[in-house]
Amino acid sequence: MLKKILFILVFFCTYIFAQEKASLNERWYTQEDVTKGKKLFINNCSSCHGKKAQKTLNWKRTLKDGTYPPPPLNGTAHAWHHPKSQLERIILNGGQLYDGTMPAFKNVLNKEEISYIISYFQNFWNNEIYNTWFNNAGLTR
Ligand code: HEC
Repeated sequence: MLKKILFILVFFCTYIFAQEKASLNERWYTQEDVTKGKKLFINNCSSCHGKKAQKTLNWKRTLKDGTYPPPPLNGTAHAWHHPKSQLERIILNGGQLYDGTMPAFKNVLNKEEISYIISYFQNFWNNEIYNTWFNNAGLTR
């Protein structure tokens, strides 16, 4: 009897886990957020990060003055290591936190606008990158 219950329990957990995995591909943002974010990104960020958040290809190499160039935010570089709260902090405060050259946007953009912008560049992340970020507490840390 116990064996049977255990079997059902394991089956159920596997089922729930599979469901959870499947739904992870759903994003926290809507297409409308992405559209709003695109406009804001083009106006505020694309001069350095590129219109599709693809710049700079050689983001690991320092410039002549020892600072780093703007890294791509499209999922090919490092941005997905940061939970959303940290991405927000970087955008609000710029690179001064870590001797970088990115300008701060706290007097330019509000929190809502920053969320739209994050949705815009996250929309370039493939499901694998997005899910890794999500499973790393991307939304909860
Ligand atoms: C004047 C150029 C410039 C502009 C404009 C700019 N950035 Fe940056 N950004 C950088 C640089 C350079 C870095 C690398 C760290 C540093 O030097 O501060 C960076 C780093 C970042 C990072 C950290 C990425 C990582 O992999 O850790 C994020 C996120 C980011 N920028 C988002 C934005 C967003 C969003 C905007 C527009 C609201 C923006 N940036 C505007 C130059 C810029």
